Amino acid sequence: MEKNRSNFTGSIGFIFAAASSAVGLGNLWRFPYLAAKYGGGIFLLAYLILAVTFGFALMVTEIAIGRKTRLSPMEAFGSLNKKWKWLGKLTTLVPVLILPYYCVIGGWVTKYGAVMLSGAVSESANDSYFPSFISSTVSPLVFFLIFALLVAIIIFLGVNKGIEKFSKLLMPLLLVLTIGLTVFVLTRKGAGAGVAYYLKPDFANLSIKTILAALGQLFFSMSLAMGIMITYGSYVRKEDNIEKSVRQIEMFDTLIAFLAGLMIVPAVFAYSGGDADALGKGPSLMFVTLPKVFNEMPFGSVVGALFFILVFFAALTSAVSVMEAIVAGIDDKYKTGRKKATVIVFLYAVAIGVLCSLGFGVLSNITIIGFGILDFLDFMSNSVLMPIVGMLTCIVIGF
Ligand code: PHE
Repeated sequence: MEKNRSNFTGSIGFIFAAASSAVGLGNLWRFPYLAAKYGGGIFLLAYLILAVTFGFALMVTEIAIGRKTRLSPMEAFGSLNKKWKWLGKLTTLVPVLILPYYCVIGGWVTKYGAVMLSGAVSESANDSYFPSFISSTVSPLVFFLIFALLVAIIIFLGVNKGIEKFSKLLMPLLLVLTIGLTVFVLTRKGAGAGVAYYLKPDFANLSIKTILAALGQLFFSMSLAMGIMITYGSYVRKEDNIEKSVRQIEMFDTLIAFLAGLMIVPAVFAYSGGDADALGKGPSLMFVTLPKVFNEMPFGSVVGALFFILVFFAALTSAVSVMEAIVAGIDDKYKTGRKKATVIVFLYAVAIGVLCSLGFGVLSNITIIGFGILDFLDFMSNSVLMPIVGMLTCIVIGF
């Protein structure tokens, strides 16, 4: 009896820890803008197929590596096979690329939470509001610093476990609010065309870019190919059923992303006409579209504030897991101690994050292979490094 109960708590605890890392900006911010940009239904279909095949296999693999070796990613690959030691380093490089820009977007969410709380919904619904915010210098930097500092403090104080517990409350609330907002958007005039675009795969929109975008998004959203699931796996006990847990984590993560898309893509049709220009907004899509929805709904500033606060916490718990992965890696390798490693990682994130943020303003003339600074880091991590690490991880386990 006793044993069964602790077993149960064990796997539920693990599921929530993994879900709090998985559900974040990837689901609410990144998935909808990619779906809008890369062909709607065909992107959704590609994503779903990849999630149940490759995504499932890779998450099970990573957790199994962690459970078997009981080591952090930095050491785990080497202990499986000396030849693969370098893969641990490559894996740890992924969160290094992601952390700075993730905190910049976290800052944007923080800003919008504050805007909604201040009741300035109608200003924020204006088309020029977001572009003028991100191209300014001070405001995005201040909100980025607030967000990054919070992440660092949580890790510095070692209260990550407490934060993960908190997500047990957060996740259901986020789910309910997203469903409510989706229903509201779907009743708007013009939303029907958006639903069709989002749900009906049009093979004319299929391209290699669509598949690559879906693949990168899969890694990002499920926190794969960066060692995070290996770390969580090292806490899983032998008797826990990995496949069942992974199925639950994946279903929840995909459900939130699916709903976010079903809310935002039709809203683009209802409020901005749904032409290619409106759909191709990229990283700004959520910030441009949602204020228009809140502006039109009764109690919009309250609902908007609640929504951005929930997104803020979802982003925070994910960012904590990204920073934790780097801190643990540095501490493992250089034996710096966790606190010192946290300070180093924070300073690094600030240095690069400042560049990402200014990349939309005073540094907007800087492009790297055609990308702005933030988009370049996003591209390098999700479309280049993660597919490589993900494939190699599957190969290693086959040895
Ligand atoms: N999976 C998280 C999200 O969807 C982001 C994340 C990326 C978390 C990388 C950890 C590592 O927002």
